[in-house]
Amino acid sequence: MASFEGRDLISIRDLSRADIEAILDKARAMSDIPAEERRVLLRGKTMASLFFEPSTRTRTSFNAAMRNLGGWVEGFADPKTSSVSKMESLWDTIKIYDGYGYSVFVIRHPLKGAARLASDAAKAPVINAGDGANQHPTQTLLDLYTIQETQGRIDGLRVGMVGDLAHGRTVHSLTQALLKFKGVDLYFVSSRALKMPGHLVDKCRARSEGVCEEVSRIEEVIGDVDILYMTRVQKERFGGDQALYEKVKNIYRLSSDMLVGVRENLKVLHPLPRVDEIATDVDNTPYAYYFQQARNGLRIRETLLALLTGALT
Ligand code: NCD
Repeated sequence: MASFEGRDLISIRDLSRADIEAILDKARAMSDIPAEERRVLLRGKTMASLFFEPSTRTRTSFNAAMRNLGGWVEGFADPKTSSVSKMESLWDTIKIYDGYGYSVFVIRHPLKGAARLASDAAKAPVINAGDGANQHPTQTLLDLYTIQETQGRIDGLRVGMVGDLAHGRTVHSLTQALLKFKGVDLYFVSSRALKMPGHLVDKCRARSEGVCEEVSRIEEVIGDVDILYMTRVQKERFGGDQALYEKVKNIYRLSSDMLVGVRENLKVLHPLPRVDEIATDVDNTPYAYYFQQARNGLRIRETLLALLTGALT
């Protein structure tokens, strides 16, 4: 298996299919490690947690992962509490943290490319916890883990992605990952203003196998897909155009009455937070799997921290 020690995780494109499968295998095997060994797996390791954008799941699950494995976390959840509020640059901030000797960085930032820049500044490995509308590779790994857990495979599945495909970094990363697998049929469900970027649709269409369709209504695909991946309209990425946000924010809403006649194995996923795009009456159907999906994030992040710091090989 490829070694992950010291590697950065900035984009899902940094990982081959074999890398992804190795990480998912390792994540599955985490529960085989005896509890007393797991508790000290990251003893002496430190994580710098630098969140320039709000986060609940990603930040908390990285922290909980370090806690579970005996590591230590420092950093900030709000840049206003650091010298970033005095206009210190990202480069300088990373240099300072790096000089204090952290084993790994976890960074979320509103700008595309910020995590890559951070990885140039830092000697320690950097994990991208989301850079603007660009990438969210750890979310993608937990999404793939969840897809495999619920469907038993990834190759040949039918996946619908719904909502803000223009600004959602989770769907950008996930699309790139699914293109590494064989014959995954992709259905992009969005309105004109929220369409998947053209370069990703082109890549999807350039494959020799696997459907790639852009449609505008959930009803057009819901009866055919194995995975329905819902997303939130990304208010914060509309900048000055809040009028457009108001216009498109409620276009997609999944409710339990729409789940009549769907495939038995269908699972509804969502990176969360949800706003109104999944009615709460879906939560009690056998198709809802987003809370389990979020829980899988802990397993994936424990695995990544252990692999990148060399605690697990
Ligand atoms: C996502 C994100 O930050 O991109 N959240 C998450 O990490 N689970 C999705 C979102 O904010 O809509």
